[in-house]
Amino acid sequence: MTVHFVGAGPGAPDLLTLRGRDLIAASPVCLYAGSLIPIEILAHCPAEARIVNTASMSLDDIISEIQSAHAQGLDVVRLHSGDLSVWSAMGEQLRRLRALAIPYTVTPGVPAFAAAAATLGNELTLPEVAQSLVLTRTPGRASAMPEGETLSNFAATGATLAIHLSIHNLAQVVTDLSPAYGTECPVAVVWRASWPDEKVIRGTLATIEMLIDESINRTALILVGPALATDTFTESSLYAVGYDRRFRPQSADSPFAESGSDHSGDGQ
Ligand SMILES: C[S@@+](CC[C@H](N)C(=O)[O-])C[C@H]1O[C@@H](n2cnc3c(N)ncnc32)[C@H](O)[C@@H]1O
Repeated sequence: MTVHFVGAGPGAPDLLTLRGRDLIAASPVCLYAGSLIPIEILAHCPAEARIVNTASMSLDDIISEIQSAHAQGLDVVRLHSGDLSVWSAMGEQLRRLRALAIPYTVTPGVPAFAAAAATLGNELTLPEVAQSLVLTRTPGRASAMPEGETLSNFAATGATLAIHLSIHNLAQVVTDLSPAYGTECPVAVVWRASWPDEKVIRGTLATIEMLIDESINRTALILVGPALATDTFTESSLYAVGYDRRFRPQSADSPFAESGSDHSGDGQ
C-alpha cells in the first residue's frame, strides 16, 4: 500500500502529468483538496473508487482516512492543486506518514505561477532585467511570514515576484513594492489561470488597484517586476550569432570545437 501525492495542476484538467493520471486511475481511494481540483480530473478515478473531498477535514481526519486504507491494503492518491512543493500542506502529511511508516510517492504538478506566465505569454526571467523569480505570499490569518521575508526585502533585489494568496491584500502589496520598483513598474494579475473563465489584468503599481474589481478574488496570482514589460529587454547570448558554445563552435580554435562543454546552462 502506498499514498501517492500528485500535483493536480492549476485548473485545466489536461495540465496533469501522465504519471499523475495513471496513479489516479490505479488508486482505489482518492483524497482531493476541495474546489481547486477540477472535477474532470476525478473522472480518472476507478469506477468504484472512494473519493473524498478533504476541504472540511482536519489533518487528523485525513490521516485516519489514510490509515483506514492502509489497514485494507488500498493505495491512496492524494491530490493537491498546482505543484506540491509550495503551499500544499504536503509537509505535515508526509511527516505523519513517516512516523506511521506508511510509504508514499510524490509526483509534481504544473504550478500556478507557470500557468499564469503561460497565459500572459511572459518569460519571467529576462536577460539583464530579472534573473530570479520569488514565489511568495503576504501574511494570512493562519500564517504569519517569517521575519525577513517581506515584500520590500524581495523588491530590493529587482527580481520578478509571483505573489500568491494575496489578492485581498493588493493595496498593501502596492504600498510595499512601490518604493523599490517605482509606481510605473508593470503588474499582471491572473485569475484562475488555465480555467475556461480565466482573466488577465495588466497595469502598473500605480493603476492595478483601480483595474481590479471584486470578481477577482481568491484564486489569483499577482506578478510584479520589470520583466513583465513585454518588449524592453535585450536578447540572450544563447542564440546570438557569433556566440561560441558547445552546440555551435565558432572556429576550429574554440574550446567547444571537439569535446569541450558549455556549462553556461542557458536554456539548454
Ligand atoms: C494554496 S496556494 C496553492 C499553490 C499551488 N500549490 C501551486 O503550485 O501553485 C493557492 C494560491 O495559488 C494561486 N493559484 C492557484 N491556482 C491558481 C490559478 N489557476 N490561477 C491563479 N492563481 C492560482 C493563488 O494565489 C491561490 O491563492
